[in-house]
Amino acid sequence: MIKEVKKAIIPVAGWGTRSLPASKNVPKEMLPVYNKPAVQHIVEEVINSGIKDVIFITSKNKSIIEDHFDYNLALEWVLERQGKTKLLEEVRKVSEMINIISVRQKKQLGLGHAVYCAKDLIKKDEAFAVILGDDLIFNPVPGIKQLLDVAEREDMCVVGVMPVKRNKVSRYGIIKGEEISPNLYRVIDIVEKPKVDEAPSNLAVVGRYILTPVIFDFLEELIKNHSEEDIKEEIQLTSALQVLAKKRKLLAVKLKGIRFDIGDWAEYLVANLYFGLQDPELKEDLKEKINEFLNPSLILK
Ligand code: G1P
Repeated sequence: MIKEVKKAIIPVAGWGTRSLPASKNVPKEMLPVYNKPAVQHIVEEVINSGIKDVIFITSKNKSIIEDHFDYNLALEWVLERQGKTKLLEEVRKVSEMINIISVRQKKQLGLGHAVYCAKDLIKKDEAFAVILGDDLIFNPVPGIKQLLDVAEREDMCVVGVMPVKRNKVSRYGIIKGEEISPNLYRVIDIVEKPKVDEAPSNLAVVGRYILTPVIFDFLEELIKNHSEEDIKEEIQLTSALQVLAKKRKLLAVKLKGIRFDIGDWAEYLVANLYFGLQDPELKEDLKEKINEFLNPSLILK
């Protein structure tokens, strides 16, 4: 039974090559999207979906992510002494958001391998969420919550999808689905980063999954068959999902909301503007600056 999902796996072990050179020494998950690191937006989606236990799959040089969600007593002391109560509250709130569990992925063998690293932290019959940091999705009902509602109702594993432009399909896992009710699909097949002319649809997996431990069996099989020479071939979560869709059942929900793929610089920058524009204190100034900047006579200078 899928109910009361309590844990979310957030893989943060990757190199973040798409965000270089910014991510050379700062994990890409810590790059700010307006006034908070990208990973905090992800964590907020998780907690707003009712999940408090977060399993970070980490690697070397990523401990700054765990630190962000922990107390910084020296900073709190300074803020307290300076009477900066609002900031103090904000800083403390971040420390108290989640229970942190960390697992080290010692070799970056792919997303499937990263998720497998959490196997021993998930109980035998416990469903869990997986959420990836590249896709920020905003909606009054958070993305993970939209999936949880369907996973619990249908008692099935679910992935979140959104339509993407045809020329972008090769960046994503793409589903072939049969629409069983509005915005809900039975996944018939799922392929990782297909060529544009081979993609079965333009419905892309947007880094949100509700899964059960059966996925670990399929991942284990893939890991066993993965030889050291295959180092360039990543162990894909999509490959295990493909087995799941074929041997059992997998659903896909077309998520509602606005999405930014922050591994793409244009979308990263727009995400920053989007958040800036939500802030009443910044909105008017920001709009003025953007308009000034978009003024053709200025651009030509
Ligand atoms: C991963 C998944 C892919 C999914 C994407 C969403 O790819 O493998 O199926 O569509 O995340 O962001 P990555 O972006 O890690 O290459």
